[in-house]
Amino acid sequence: MPECYARSCKLSARPGQLTISCAVPVSAAWPLQMVETDGGIRAVDWVWCDAASGRAGAMVPLPADTQSVRGRGIEVIIAANWKMNPPLADAAALAVAYAADSFDGVTRILFPPAPYLVQMGVRLDGTDMLVGGQDCHHNASGAHTGDVAAGMLADCGARVVLLGHSERRADHGEDDALVATKAAAALSAGLDVMICVGETLDQREAGSAEAVVTVQLEGSVPAGIDASRLMLAYEPVWAIGTGKVAGVEEIAAMHAAIQQWLAKRDLASVPILYGGSVKPGNADAIFGVPDVGGALVGGASLKAEDFNGICSAGARAAAARS
Ligand code: 13P
Repeated sequence: MPECYARSCKLSARPGQLTISCAVPVSAAWPLQMVETDGGIRAVDWVWCDAASGRAGAMVPLPADTQSVRGRGIEVIIAANWKMNPPLADAAALAVAYAADSFDGVTRILFPPAPYLVQMGVRLDGTDMLVGGQDCHHNASGAHTGDVAAGMLADCGARVVLLGHSERRADHGEDDALVATKAAAALSAGLDVMICVGETLDQREAGSAEAVVTVQLEGSVPAGIDASRLMLAYEPVWAIGTGKVAGVEEIAAMHAAIQQWLAKRDLASVPILYGGSVKPGNADAIFGVPDVGGALVGGASLKAEDFNGICSAGARAAAARS
């Protein structure tokens, strides 16, 4: 009998009701199945089976969880932004590797590609790692081919959405006003938001980094937002995927400026993550900077060992702060 590790469904596969064959490819999933659970026959959104481990699971719709991602007394937030990576088989293995560990004082968030949200959510179920969307549309529904509404992300288990990443600003021409509208849509759908800001190299060299980031904050953060629903990520564009990490003094100065901006708006409790070439080798130094509340990690999150190394540094920082 396959073992179920879905959140609220004790799966009992019986001949004639549900046949789960582990001879299928890893992560195979079929929408809308009926399974027998302790509570009787129920419709489930997804049934999946992992040939490697022999495990199977089902995901049942759950009541929306309205608790803020940050309402858990956490110290350090470490988020993995997979961007448009990796293929599903690698993603499943990575999520299983993430699920094997937990880090005191650290809340982990995974932003997988949208089509993988459910499958990654199931694999991380019962761990301290939440899943989130990498973007959402600013409307709740409608004729927007290729887009995903915030409510749809929530339906797939997302608790938070990343908005205003510099790659979306550059690739899709997203401006601050659009980011603010998306944030409002996400909040209405019950999601927390993580809004990204950061200057280009030209802007830094011109001495306008803080001014640029302040304008982004003014335009992207919705007025009157509840502090418990907001996280910020400072990601200097020139440090993303380049291996160039901002110096601790540059990070300290920018985070202090952002913290001042937040304090003036009654948002002082909002965590500010740093992103841009964070690796196990530089994470301790980055987490040692005042006003750094965590990290948003791209490339290094695609290797469990590297991501875990960063999370270990997060746990050390959390212990030092408590
Ligand atoms: P890298 O960690 O690959 O530099 O990416 C950072 C990032 O863009 C996370 O959102």
